[in-house]
Amino acid sequence: MALPMFQLDGRVAVVTGGGGVLGRAIALGLAQAGAHVAVTGNSPGNAEAARDAIRAGGFAADVFRMDVLDEGTVVSAAAEIVRTLGQIDILVNCVGGNRPEATTSPERKFFEIQSNDLRDVFDLNLFGGTIVPCRTLGKFMSGNPEGGSIINISSMAGVIPLTRVVGYSAAKAAVDNFTRWLAVHLATEYSPRLRVNAIAPGFFLTEQNRYLLEGEDGSLTPRGRSIVEHTPMGRFGEPEDLAGVAVWLASDASRFVTGSVVAVDGGFSAYSGV
Ligand SMILES: NC(=O)c1ccc[n+]([C@@H]2O[C@H](COP(=O)([O-])OP(=O)(O)OC[C@H]3O[C@@H](n4cnc5c(N)ncnc54)[C@H](O)[C@@H]3O)[C@@H](O)[C@H]2O)c1
Repeated sequence: MALPMFQLDGRVAVVTGGGGVLGRAIALGLAQAGAHVAVTGNSPGNAEAARDAIRAGGFAADVFRMDVLDEGTVVSAAAEIVRTLGQIDILVNCVGGNRPEATTSPERKFFEIQSNDLRDVFDLNLFGGTIVPCRTLGKFMSGNPEGGSIINISSMAGVIPLTRVVGYSAAKAAVDNFTRWLAVHLATEYSPRLRVNAIAPGFFLTEQNRYLLEGEDGSLTPRGRSIVEHTPMGRFGEPEDLAGVAVWLASDASRFVTGSVVAVDGGFSAYSGV
């Protein structure tokens, strides 16, 4: 049984991209802490699988269709969630990711990267992944007498830009900046009980970055080895490593925390390499 300050009973948590690798672990953690989780996704499949895994544990979850790049679906999903579940207390924005086309390589120098590919990465991580859901679902949350908690999933790439990863690093840096801006705006213009924070995961070996970290035979690339060597804890993150931090930021346990970007990186950002 969790300490009362960490409990989320009676709260509704929306996890965008909750069918993804990291979103699913976060959604399960929030459900285990007592929240009713609305898993949103843009196509049938992984969101339903996440919902089923949560329900199989005896916890509450539903799926709602939402394409964050299509604002109309964000508006209609938000209204449907409130109509069905009554309110939105917690929003975790997990949609995002890098694109090989917006990443430099020996074949694709920075000067050859197409503007549209960079723009797509900004649309996915900043506009669609973060700003549009914060505006649309945040509007419902702004009327909650009890306030609420928004958690944006950023990246260590936003704190320290990563070599090659040009568009994604810049987009996640903007997510961190927007997180701080919105934290101040909501606390001062709406309610000090409306909080906005971000989690900056370090390196988690997932489908979006496997092509950079693992060779075809499954062994680590030089880049993958370099990351592990520069992580004091000596390993990649596991999706479950994020769940406790998400529960803390979603719950009253962090009630005086807003505008923070919390690193979950095994010490990567604290280590100079010397
Ligand atoms: N994997 C990592 O190592 C890592 C590290 C740092 C930060 N992150 C960030 O964490 C978040 C989750 O990453 P992940 O590894 O779980 O990625 P993922 O690709 O497994 O999950 C992303 C989810 O978003 C959904 N999605 C994609 N486009 C969408 C759209 N237009 N509308 C609605 N849903 C859409 C996908 O279906 C998927 O369920 C991202 O913001 C990512 O940038 C990941």
